[in-house]
Amino acid sequence: MDLEIKGKKAIMAGGSAGMGRATAERLAEAGVELVISARREERLITAAREISDKYGVSVTPVVADSSTEDGRRALFEACPDPDILAITIKPPSPNGDFLKLTPEDWRDSIETALIGPIEIMQNYIPVMKDKGWGRIVNIATFSAKNPMLWHLMSGPARSALINYTASVSREIAKHGVVINNILPGMFQTEGASEILNDYADAFGLDPNPDVVRQHFLENNKIPAGFIAEAADMAPMAALLCSPLSRFIVGQNIVIDGGQHHSLF
Ligand SMILES: NC(=O)c1ccc[n+]([C@@H]2O[C@H](COP(=O)([O-])OP(=O)(O)OC[C@H]3O[C@@H](n4cnc5c(N)ncnc54)[C@H](OP(=O)(O)O)[C@@H]3O)[C@@H](O)[C@H]2O)c1
Repeated sequence: MDLEIKGKKAIMAGGSAGMGRATAERLAEAGVELVISARREERLITAAREISDKYGVSVTPVVADSSTEDGRRALFEACPDPDILAITIKPPSPNGDFLKLTPEDWRDSIETALIGPIEIMQNYIPVMKDKGWGRIVNIATFSAKNPMLWHLMSGPARSALINYTASVSREIAKHGVVINNILPGMFQTEGASEILNDYADAFGLDPNPDVVRQHFLENNKIPAGFIAEAADMAPMAALLCSPLSRFIVGQNIVIDGGQHHSLF
């Protein structure tokens, strides 16, 4: 399928690994010029070079933490006029005892998972409105609509994010600017591996990966029967970044192998 985005310009905020990188690859494959950002420089630069070499498009790496004003400014300075904006972060760590969460924990979660994406969107919505075309995709989490007691540093802030985009997307759709969210379930990514020890801590487990994996599978019933790869999500993200999605507005698309059990 031709996504009709060849030659467009995209930002993938959080594009050096996991689902962000997989999305960047799909966009590059479709001929999009990319700016990808992340906090860790070495992995970011490698990702940019690999994607560019593989697909023959320009991929500019920008070291920028989306949760800070400085980071968002650096991103804007590097690319003030994208056609496409996709945003993600790494999966927040499991929280352990909810009674031990502190205001600082909540502030950190809100800065990273709510204020960061909102401020980035706010930077670009006027530009996209002026052009009369734009696509915004947030790669958030299915715990935005599927509350999980161990995922309080991720779900509540994202519930607020999808509430915000539900309103804003309906306001700006008439300008040809479309926002949708992807809500992933369980994916085997670099970010998921990095929080394995925190997961073990939160549940008082031996950090042996096999023990953690067994506990994880017992507590996450996935009808599809497997934990996904980042590439299982990226085609949907790329579709939502294309003109083909012009009538898909303000939606939250759960990609979780059927784990979240609901009609809508
Ligand atoms: N993996 C799962 O099972 C799972 C489950 C449910 C939801 N999700 C959600 O899916 C999204 C992607 O997760 P993933 O597993 O693909 O993560 P990942 O493998 O860690 O990739 C995240 C990407 O974003 C970058 N990033 C993280 N924090 C950032 C920040 N503050 N500013 C700029 N870049 C940042 C990372 O690079 P740096 O770290 O170098 O910045 C990396 O490039 C997250 O929103 C996560 O909550 C994941």
